[in-house]
Amino acid sequence: MGYQIAIDGPAGAGKSTIAKLIAKQKNFIYVDTGAMYRAMALYLLRNNVKADDITAVAETCVNADITIRYKNGEQIVLLNGENVNPCLRTEEVGFMASTSSANPKVRGHLLGLQIKLAEENDVVMDGRDIGTCILPNAQVKIFLTASSRVRANRRYLELKGKNIPCDLDQIEQDIIKRDHQDMNREHAPLKQADDAILVDSSNMTIEEVTAEIMKIVG
Ligand code: DC
Repeated sequence: MGYQIAIDGPAGAGKSTIAKLIAKQKNFIYVDTGAMYRAMALYLLRNNVKADDITAVAETCVNADITIRYKNGEQIVLLNGENVNPCLRTEEVGFMASTSSANPKVRGHLLGLQIKLAEENDVVMDGRDIGTCILPNAQVKIFLTASSRVRANRRYLELKGKNIPCDLDQIEQDIIKRDHQDMNREHAPLKQADDAILVDSSNMTIEEVTAEIMKIVG
C-alpha cells in the first residue's frame, strides 16, 4: 500500500490543479477519478443511453473498459483502448458524469481500478468520495471547496480566455445543480470525511492553497 493523499470537493474547487502540483512536488502519481467518470459518461452518450435510465446505464456501463496510462506525467484515460482525454472536458460530459455516477453499477465498475492504483503507487487522488469510500485510511485527507460564485468565476475566466462565449450566472447555476446532484445521491455522495481537513480556497491563490496543503502533507 502506497502513501495516499485524498482530495475531495465540489466541481470547480481547483482540485485537479492543486492535486497535480502536490503530486509533482511529492513525486507521486496523480489520479483524476472525475476523468474516469467522464470517460464512462462519454461511453454512455455515444451509446445513446439516457442518464436517468437506471437499467440501461447499469447494463451498458459494464462494456466500458476504462484504464489509465501516464505519459510525461499526464494521466491518459483509455476507453476501450481509445485515448479519450480530448473529449472529456465538455459541459455535456460533465453533467452526464454527475448523473450516471449516482448509479452503483457505474461506481462499482470504477472502484476496483481506483483502489488498485492506490495499492501499487504513492498517489494524490481527487474526486468526490476518495476520503470517505475509496481510501478511508488515506494518510492525508483534504476537503477543498470555494463559494459557488468564486468557482463559477474561475470557470468563466477560463472559458473567456479560450474565447468561448459564456454567461457567469448560467455557469453558477450549472455548478449549483451539479453540487446538488453530487451531494444528494444515495451512493457515495460528496461529503467531507470526518477526518478530512477543510481548505476553503475562495480567497486564496493556487500557490497559497498548494503551500497550505504541503504544510499538512509535511
Ligand atoms: O471532478 P469532475 O468534474 O471531473 O467529475 C465529474 C463528475 O463525476 C462529478 O460531477 C461527479 C462524478 N464523480 C464522482 O461521482 N466520484 C468521483 N470520485 C469523481 C467524480
